[in-house]
Amino acid sequence: MTEIKEIYSAQQINRRVAELGAQISEDYKTLECPVVIGVLKGAFCFLADLVRHIDLPESIQLEFVHLSSYGSATESSGRIQAPYLNLPNISNRHILVVEDIVDSGRTAHFFLEYLKDQFSPASLKLAVLLDKNTNRVVTVKPDYIGFSVGDTFIVGFGFDYAEKHRELPYLGELIRKGSK
Ligand code: IMP
Ligand code: MG
Repeated sequence: MTEIKEIYSAQQINRRVAELGAQISEDYKTLECPVVIGVLKGAFCFLADLVRHIDLPESIQLEFVHLSSYGSATESSGRIQAPYLNLPNISNRHILVVEDIVDSGRTAHFFLEYLKDQFSPASLKLAVLLDKNTNRVVTVKPDYIGFSVGDTFIVGFGFDYAEKHRELPYLGELIRKGSK
């Protein structure tokens, strides 16, 4: 049995994402045609809201990749899968990666290194909705962070447990009843 305890409401998330959008708009206002890359599936809600709070003189280019390191468990498998990593030529561009969460850091590290290797970006930054910095295995320092969370398992607003709960409008902690 599991239950979900809300930790950030839809309204709190919206307020924080608006702040991040304003900050990104300020930081990118003089940069030529930035590329925003959303990491599926987990970042889909965050990305959709964030880009609507980014207001720049020039339009952004939006791309998607699909990466995963979790199977259906709540522990990182340590192996990164890239079922969809089909990007156009974005060499020497300003790239902003939008991820749901950095946990061990393996997924973000893998993808940031891949982008550096393939495209020598003019700049490369990382925006995450959640930073779970208690479990880092690889050093990753996101440039934009929505909220920092402890060592709990989060579902909702794009985050899943075994492909469930992504559609919830809030962020909640998954509590397994009968466990500690
Ligand atoms: P990392 O490679 O260990 O940093 O893990 C990153 C990926 O693990 C994220 O993109 C998520 O898909 C998943 N993940 C890590 N923590 C959670 C969580 O609390 N809830 C849901 N997914 C998570
Ligand atoms: Mg993910």
